[in-house]
Amino acid sequence: MSLIAIQPIDIANMFNLLFPLLLCVQFAHSLPQTYDAIVHCLDESGVPQDYPGSSNFTADIIPYNLRLNYTPIAVAVPSTVPQVQGAVLCAVNLGVKVNPKSGGHSYASHSLGGEDGHLVVDLKYFTETSVDPVTNIATVGPGARLGNVALSLFEQGERAMAHGICPGVGIGGHVLHGGQGYGSHTYGLLLDFLIEADIVLADGSLVTTSETQNPELFWALRGAGMSFGIVTSLKFRTIPAPPQNILFYYPYSWNQTQARAGWDAWQAYCGGETTPVIPLEMNVRWVINNDTEGRLLFLLEGAYHGSEEDFLDAIGPLLDELAKIGGFEEDVRGVGTHELGWLDALLYANSNGLFSNWDNNQTLETPLNYTAHATFFAKSLMTSNLSPAGVDAWIDRLYATGPTSPTGWYFIIAAQGGPTSYVPTIPQDATSYAHRSSIYEWQLVAQTTTPPFDDAGITWLNPFISDIEAAESNVTLGMYYNYADPTLSKEEAHERYWLEHYGRLKGIKESVDPGLVFLNPQTVGN
Ligand SMILES: *[C@@H]1O[C@H](CO)[C@@H](O)[C@H](O)[C@H]1NC(C)=O
Ligand SMILES: *[C@@H]1O[C@H](CO)[C@@H](O)[C@H](O)[C@H]1NC(C)=O
Ligand SMILES: *[C@@H]1O[C@H](CO)[C@@H](O)[C@H](O)[C@H]1NC(C)=O
Ligand SMILES: *[C@@H]1O[C@H](CO)[C@@H](O)[C@H](O)[C@H]1NC(C)=O
Ligand SMILES: *[C@@H]1O[C@H](CO)[C@@H](O)[C@H](O)[C@H]1NC(C)=O
Ligand SMILES: *[C@@H]1O[C@H](CO)[C@@H](O)[C@H](O)[C@H]1NC(C)=O
Repeated sequence: MSLIAIQPIDIANMFNLLFPLLLCVQFAHSLPQTYDAIVHCLDESGVPQDYPGSSNFTADIIPYNLRLNYTPIAVAVPSTVPQVQGAVLCAVNLGVKVNPKSGGHSYASHSLGGEDGHLVVDLKYFTETSVDPVTNIATVGPGARLGNVALSLFEQGERAMAHGICPGVGIGGHVLHGGQGYGSHTYGLLLDFLIEADIVLADGSLVTTSETQNPELFWALRGAGMSFGIVTSLKFRTIPAPPQNILFYYPYSWNQTQARAGWDAWQAYCGGETTPVIPLEMNVRWVINNDTEGRLLFLLEGAYHGSEEDFLDAIGPLLDELAKIGGFEEDVRGVGTHELGWLDALLYANSNGLFSNWDNNQTLETPLNYTAHATFFAKSLMTSNLSPAGVDAWIDRLYATGPTSPTGWYFIIAAQGGPTSYVPTIPQDATSYAHRSSIYEWQLVAQTTTPPFDDAGITWLNPFISDIEAAESNVTLGMYYNYADPTLSKEEAHERYWLEHYGRLKGIKESVDPGLVFLNPQTVGN
């Protein structure tokens, strides 16, 4: 092939087209040279790449979050471990930063580097999903998408793991920073299923990590994986797919007084203060937004792993309290419960109860060229039960500003931890994931259906966090890296994502990647 021979000409042209601003700003001296050099180095090392300017490159770098676009210096698309090693060594030799991309759903576009000029190692061809029929241990490539993984595990002996419910999300980033979903309260985070991971480090070496092999690195990977290298293979324990799954939807429309009372009932339930207590099998969350008339809607939804009869007993204490408050919206389609098998439960978990309205024919199966996009700014918060002052602050802000938000929005507040959850049964220091002692994961999203995003949405969203924290004696609460907030300074990001685990993580980073090869604006050690 004459690719190498013709590239200097093509690249010179493409460079001018693609990087006119960059040329003037960040990389005025080094980039053109480095840019030629890395494309050549990948070729010489036998690493497949999507050449800048090609339709594949263009498709690769469209971010999930259209608000945050970055242009990598090159995109490697390896399909073997030696190719991953080759890509890393090219980057190291040329002083280029490297980021793995599994599914590309980073809220902060961190899989594109979170800034311009990085080498993206796109793992879309690392999609193996095989189950050992004797041990039931699954071997999964980091680029495999959750829907495909779920289908494949089910086909191989009706096995399953607990993970998120968006079928297109790549498993790599999902598992390496947590991996919450509709099964977390019952079965744990996806990272609690991980028993081994192979990773290519900054020196190009491939190492296996587990509780017994490189255990310190294995600890770091389970909560902060993207900071340490490129994981090329994951091994998971699996469970028999839960045969009975109840999906449930109970919508309420509340005024502020009702919402304040509703939140007390919710906290009492999730905090284990009711009789009977919230059982292990219950996974429950609120989805909150406002309707076109500005009414605030609270959708209580989730999944229960067990029979409908047991579910109704278990949800009873909460529904009884909410019934006293009123505001139940009987006329909303899909209200009530649906008993489903494991795969259907995963498929329909995103339907907001509107089963009869599920007409976009979404499937769990996700093709290689799958793309999904949104335009948004998100924040997260990891909390236990708020104090009365904290609940006041949260509900006050919601009612004061929710109906007049400058952008569309929705909030999801999921009870994944708490006294009867699986999550805190794993000791806080067993993995670098730092949020086991919290009960709730809050995801706060300001969004627009089409770009551009109005930055007033950022200004609107931030005070939800600051008001709650101020009311909670100015505490600094944790945040979840898989809902990365790019407006956090690196110091704040480190503290909030990893809390007291950050120091240990930084030490591990210094030992395996002292040159900060694997870097985004918020990685460990940056
Ligand atoms: C672009 O990607 C597709 C797979 O998504 C692949 O089949 C094709 O060969 C690629 N094209 C080039 C020019 O590399
Ligand atoms: C809120 O709704 C409840 C129940 O309908 C009603 O009794 C109460 O007066 C309302 N409060 C306000 C402030 O509108
Ligand atoms: C929320 O209410 C406001 C005020 O009525 C409205 O402009 C906005 O479109 C509503 N949001 C949604 C998502 O319908
Ligand atoms: C979904 O599939 C059904 C049956 O195959 C078809 O009638 C319907 O038009 C499809 N809906 C969309 C939105 O494609
Ligand atoms: C994805 O690939 C399939 C078949 O290979 C094709 O029919 C479809 O149009 C492609 N979709 C996109 C968005 O490129
Ligand atoms: C939180 O900090 C602010 C500003 O520093 C202070 O005015 C306020 O009293 C503090 N609140 C609490 C509850 O400690």
